[in-house]
Amino acid sequence: MSAFDYKNGQLHAEHVALSDVADQVGTPCYVYSRAALTEHFKGYQAPLEGRAHLICYAVKTNGNLAVLDTLARLGAGFDIVSIGELERVIAAGGDPSKVVFSGVAKQRHEMARALELGIKCFNVESSAELERLNDVAAGLGKIAPVSLRVNPDVDAGTHPYISTGLKDNKFGVAIDDALATYQRAQALSNVNPVGLDCHIGSQLTEIAPFLDALDRLKQLMATLKEQGITLKHLDLGGGLGVNYQGETPPATRDYIEALIERLDDDSLELIFEPGRSIAANAGVMLTRVEYLKPGESKHFAIVDAGMNDLIRPSLYQAYQGIVEVDTTQERTRQTYDVVGPVCESGDFLGKERTLAIAEGDLLAVQSAGAYGFVMASTYNARPLAAEVMVDGEAMYLIRERAPLEELWAGESRLPEESH
Ligand code: LLP
Repeated sequence: MSAFDYKNGQLHAEHVALSDVADQVGTPCYVYSRAALTEHFKGYQAPLEGRAHLICYAVKTNGNLAVLDTLARLGAGFDIVSIGELERVIAAGGDPSKVVFSGVAKQRHEMARALELGIKCFNVESSAELERLNDVAAGLGKIAPVSLRVNPDVDAGTHPYISTGLKDNKFGVAIDDALATYQRAQALSNVNPVGLDCHIGSQLTEIAPFLDALDRLKQLMATLKEQGITLKHLDLGGGLGVNYQGETPPATRDYIEALIERLDDDSLELIFEPGRSIAANAGVMLTRVEYLKPGESKHFAIVDAGMNDLIRPSLYQAYQGIVEVDTTQERTRQTYDVVGPVCESGDFLGKERTLAIAEGDLLAVQSAGAYGFVMASTYNARPLAAEVMVDGEAMYLIRERAPLEELWAGESRLPEESH
């Protein structure tokens, strides 16, 4: 099922015409489908049924309260990387006892808040962090449940910016140092090693690197067991890719089943931290054509959304589909670079796209539900876009377009008399 389909030539999100969304909310605007989020989440739940598991949606992917709420109601846990994400989860009605805390730079106050709320596990990324966590927990009279994020040194074969499991990445503890770090964790009085964690990268389109990583983790767990350290859960991170431009990532079921088969141990609780595979294709970004600008070697379609609203194309040269919202009008087809209003040559949403459009038409940038709005900025003093959730025939404004005043909220001018 695709939640975004044409009916009578008009692109819809579920049963809502995207042109109606743009009329009511304006552009640029992100639109998410509750049905798609639900279906993608259930894609993880179904093959894990009958064994201990927790699906911790990666909040960084799309942290809107309505998105988190949708997933929390389905039983999701959450993978967070900051106190901001933790408070978002709480504000959205998420259960702190289903939260795992990743990230290389956890601060004392973040650890303290997470301990106070009783999160499920800290995914510890270095020895220094382990010592600090022990110290903070001791100060609060608590025992922190920990999992070491191990870096299995496998090549995920993805973009270097989103590959995280190689030796040279800043993430995790090198697998060769893991035993010593677990032994240290066991010796410390206020941390309790309960799990093992890894995340090797994002937008993976093959199962093989996940299996390679699992093999290394299994070996490590066997060694740990010999040393008297028995773990309760294995967290395999996120990373499953999606179709942006004809990629054919494995179906969620095949990916999970392949891992379970390789694991040959059904007492371990399995944790996953999916982000993109749940949210990317559950969202689009709507933008309106401001001008068509013919050129000698290129034609530009200048739209009202830019790299500040959706940075993936500029930052990673990532491809995201761009389609017309209304296909019923008579238009000439033409090849355009679709560019934004930001004063940077790198400000584009797509290059060499063949589109049948005129000034004032709406475009939908596809696969924008993940790493879209969350990576937006207000560069060029452009207010953050609105966000909408569609649910069947209903649409909900889940984030208002930011008013202009918000751009300078918290700033101040200098005193009248300055030196
Ligand atoms: N767990 C950890 C520890 C992570 O670092 C990430 C993503 C995930 C889970 C979720 O991974 P996913 O299932 O979404 O692949 N901004 C980039 C992606 C950065 C991914 C960062 N980590 C992009 O737009 O492609």
